[in-house]
Amino acid sequence: MIDDINRIADAAAERARAAVSLDELRAIDAEVLGKRSEISSIKQRLGSLEPEERRQVGKAINEARAAIEEAVAARRAVLEAAARRERLEAERLDLTEVVATRHRGNIHLVTQAMQHLEDVFVGMGFTVAEGPEVESDWYNFGALNFPAGHPARDMYDTLYLEPSATGERPLLRTHTSPVQIRLMESRQPPIYAVMPGRVARRDTADATHMPVFHQIEGLVVDRGITMGDLAGTIDEFTKAYFGPGFSSRLRPSYFPFTEPSAEFDIRRPDGSWLELGGCGMVHPNVFRAVGYDPEEWTGFAFGFGIDRMTAQREGVHDLRDLFTNDIRFLRQF
Ligand code: FA5
Repeated sequence: MIDDINRIADAAAERARAAVSLDELRAIDAEVLGKRSEISSIKQRLGSLEPEERRQVGKAINEARAAIEEAVAARRAVLEAAARRERLEAERLDLTEVVATRHRGNIHLVTQAMQHLEDVFVGMGFTVAEGPEVESDWYNFGALNFPAGHPARDMYDTLYLEPSATGERPLLRTHTSPVQIRLMESRQPPIYAVMPGRVARRDTADATHMPVFHQIEGLVVDRGITMGDLAGTIDEFTKAYFGPGFSSRLRPSYFPFTEPSAEFDIRRPDGSWLELGGCGMVHPNVFRAVGYDPEEWTGFAFGFGIDRMTAQREGVHDLRDLFTNDIRFLRQF
């Protein structure tokens, strides 16, 4: 009987080792170890054996089971690994093929403009900085010399968030100028930096307004900076960004955080003008708010709308077209 058991175990292990699929292995496992297997029927006959023989046959059965189970497990590991390799191979995505045969997405026009603007300013020796889109009243207004209740705050229709536990009302920044404050707080002059980003105002969307749009801020702080440096920088930027046939002009204006303040326009080669944004010499109160001595430091700042500039440059007549995500429109750029 023990010889039978060993023979069965050897044959089963041999079959397991030769199995070529997991299904075949499962079938062998059920056949040699299941209820209707030869080993089971020998086990059922154990009761009729003498005690000593029963002990020996029982032991042989256990050893045979263990040997078969081990052979099945070893083969299963090999077959499973092969199956996994096969599946991975079948599921492999050849991305180069997808790119080569389908239309590739392109960078959004406004993002392209932001990247181009950054490149131009970096080429002029500026660094790039960013700040948060949710701001406090202090950074968006107070530190920029808008006194509480001052009518200049009405220049911006502000979107406020729920008041915090301390009663402060966070807001969506209405311009990128608060990044000037954060930058000056975080380092000492000299500063030559641009700060691109998303801003929000309670403006109804129309051909020239969006409630969410993009600006780029510029800030220079150094000793002996003059309005001439501001005009020169804007003109150099204009030529580098738009091309040699373009020039710029400043017109007097008002912003609480610059004095004097100006609007700047770009002159196209055909003689028409494109209004770009605001600029001016940094107001002494702004320097005081960040702990800079206005007797020692001078500077200029500018900020302009990227969306409007891009739309004009590309001949897009309605700002909303930039953001309705019509793929036929966006693919042109
Ligand atoms: C400002 O936001 C000032 N912070 C600019 C500045 C910076 C002045 C530093 C001085 C020194 P203003 O509100 O004019 O200024 O906005 C600047 C530009 O943002 C505008 O010229 C326009 O191009 C753009 N802009 C304003 N509102 C919208 C809008 N709703 N949709 C699209 N673009 C807008």
